[in-house]
Amino acid sequence: MTTEAHRRKALEEAGYNTFLLRSEDVYIDLLTDSGTSAMSDRQWAGLMMGDESYAGSRNYYHLKESIQKHYSYKYIIPTHQGRGAEHILSQILITEGDYLPGNMYFTTTKLHQELAGGKFVDVIVDEAHDPESLYKFKGDVNLNKLEALIHKVGAHKIPYVSIATTVNMAGGQPISLGNLKAIRKLTDKHGIKIIHDMTRVAENAYMIQQYEVGYEDKTVAQIVYEICSLTDGATMSAKKDAMVNIGGFLATNDPDVYDKARNLVVVYEGLHTYGGMAGRDMEALAIGIKESIQDDHIRARVGQVFYLGEKLLEMGIPIVQPIGTHGVFIDAKKFLSHISQENFPAQSLAAEIYIDSGVRAMERGVVSAGRNKETGEHNYPKLELVRLTIPRRVYTQAHMDVIADSVQRVYKNRKSIQGMKMIYEPEYLRFFQARFEKIKVTSDHYSNTDIPRYSEAQ
Ligand SMILES: Cc1ncc(COP(=O)(O)O)c(C=O)c1O
Repeated sequence: MTTEAHRRKALEEAGYNTFLLRSEDVYIDLLTDSGTSAMSDRQWAGLMMGDESYAGSRNYYHLKESIQKHYSYKYIIPTHQGRGAEHILSQILITEGDYLPGNMYFTTTKLHQELAGGKFVDVIVDEAHDPESLYKFKGDVNLNKLEALIHKVGAHKIPYVSIATTVNMAGGQPISLGNLKAIRKLTDKHGIKIIHDMTRVAENAYMIQQYEVGYEDKTVAQIVYEICSLTDGATMSAKKDAMVNIGGFLATNDPDVYDKARNLVVVYEGLHTYGGMAGRDMEALAIGIKESIQDDHIRARVGQVFYLGEKLLEMGIPIVQPIGTHGVFIDAKKFLSHISQENFPAQSLAAEIYIDSGVRAMERGVVSAGRNKETGEHNYPKLELVRLTIPRRVYTQAHMDVIADSVQRVYKNRKSIQGMKMIYEPEYLRFFQARFEKIKVTSDHYSNTDIPRYSEAQ
């Protein structure tokens, strides 16, 4: 534990960006659920069975078997983490001027699509942008939006539709199988692929089991398999669902895509039988996949997130509803209604929670949304959120109580919280490394055009 004075100093030194704090200055770490979950005894035992041969490690074959059996995909390429797979896949499937419709953007996915010359188009249901809508499957695609895009630009300009399970930026919201089947029908009609961001597919499957008619008696494992079977390929950040500290993969059913990916992976990651991973990490992942789709595990995991969410709702804290599966997302626009979005309310709120208790959260709002590639202006998303992300198998219910109490204290003092000014902005994925300063209450004279851009800032 640290003192408030210590935390104030640490955060100021970190430019009011929780990504720039040292972990030893953090008491409860809710920055992310990525690579921060606890591996099981079996996974740790798996590390001891690492076969670190450069080529053809037996752990690679175990991983391949596990992916084929539980996720249905035929061909796999290990990568160091999710964005490694996104990079390779985007380079293979996207050509300059293509459009990539998806159920809301994800930061790294969209960036790789843009770097390959594509343009992301949001075709998620409108409810996903409304933190108060109680719609159960906010990850669903609005088929009219998708069909309108196909008619406008032509199917030949759309290499694939990006489908995430669950949708991180919407607050950890699931897509329904009914919707996915309808997307499959539409894309089949036009010869368009579906690429699955399967980072939290088990959590999505659990929500389908809980809420979608016809799936109440299916196991999470069966639902996961059915979701994957409806898609043509996938990118996976294994650091989430599959509970490893590092790892990911690209999967496809298309032998041509596999051939190209096998060729590219040696340029950017490593040989196709290890990608960016050590043998021991592939073994832990092969085991983690099996554990991640067990009903009892996933019920406990999502149940803990719901425990925190329900507690905050009882306290009257504005959060995204329905509660998501990997974290609770605070509605910073409503929480800090006196701070305009150009002064980064979510960034400011994450800072205040850290100062109050040492709980480290993260911003998911205007900072994460970056700038419009064409105009250079900030993207102002409807959702301005602070994510309290819960790692798997790490914290107790008592930790959840400490977190809720801290958020409540900050809520009581919310009127005294100031907005922020960005004083350093990196060119890519700025939320990771941007720096901020506190300002007095919002006013028009803080112009974002003053921000030193990438090359000018020290
Ligand atoms: C939905 C989603 N897709 C992709 C990624 C990128 O994965 P990684 O961080 O392993 O590169 C993440 C991780 O934050 C994610 O949450």
